Amino acid sequence: MYTARDIASLRVRRREWAAAGLKVGLVPTMGFFHEGHLALMRRARELCGRVVVSLFVNPIQFGPGEDLASYPRDLDRDRELAAAAGADLLFVPSEEEMYPAGPPSTRVVPGEMASALCGRFRPGHFDGVCTVVAKLFNMVQPDVAVFGRKDFQQLAIIRRMVRDLDFPVEIIAHPTVREPDGLAMSSRNSYLSPDEREQAVCLVEGMRLAKRLYNEGERSCGRLRQEVSSLISGYPLARIEYVELVDSRSLAPVERADDHTLLALAVRVGSTRLIDNTILADRDLP
Ligand code: PAJ
Repeated sequence: MYTARDIASLRVRRREWAAAGLKVGLVPTMGFFHEGHLALMRRARELCGRVVVSLFVNPIQFGPGEDLASYPRDLDRDRELAAAAGADLLFVPSEEEMYPAGPPSTRVVPGEMASALCGRFRPGHFDGVCTVVAKLFNMVQPDVAVFGRKDFQQLAIIRRMVRDLDFPVEIIAHPTVREPDGLAMSSRNSYLSPDEREQAVCLVEGMRLAKRLYNEGERSCGRLRQEVSSLISGYPLARIEYVELVDSRSLAPVERADDHTLLALAVRVGSTRLIDNTILADRDLP
């Protein structure tokens, strides 16, 4: 696996692959790899002749007071894991390389969908995500890009950006990869103390409860939300940021649940912010 730190050497490889008629897949990441990231890389490997993994902790998607400075990093380990998962090129631009003139003055600003869910609590976050992903698409020019459903809102916003701005890239969604007890894998899980780690199952327990109630015929989103909230509130280290039921296509709130309804959660366990989501009708949890 080749490591590129600058756009020029990335483009040299990209041109060689284009000349050889190879299909190129991109997996954008912020590093500190876990099985979720590696599953995305393997998926890209199955679909494409060459796989680029980008690793960039993107400052413009972090708000003031968020964990930009403490975000976990381990480049040597990440390099080994990405190579083993089948990446051909790890693209690790410096902040200078990505934003040579400082924070970019031209941004990709997503519409309505970005004001729901996490967007309400992280103003500007999805502008930062869309801007960096658009730049990565221009740099790598992938045929395919793989994103995780764990960040369902991010995935939906990027799909919409690709459609709205005609990026010639196919977006592939990968299911959420979980720990044996159901906790969604996340680089931020490394912040959890042993007690917090135990209580972090409250998100998946809330989703299991909502699915059971939905399967038993409950359709009132008010009631589902209340049941999930009171289950999570029973965990002393958990503090709910939001528990929402939305249409999985538009992310607009719904009152009566149906097979398209997404339950999305953001919960602080101790000081660590965790998110998760599931379509109520799907049998996708362990
Ligand atoms: P990061 O949080 O590193 O995630 C990189 C990719 O891995 C995203 O597509 C995310 O949805 C996916 N992912 C994370 N945990 C997962 C899990 N448990 N199962 C499946 N997929 C999972 O998301 C970002 O970085 C950034 O916002 C980025 C898109 C790179 C832009 O900076």
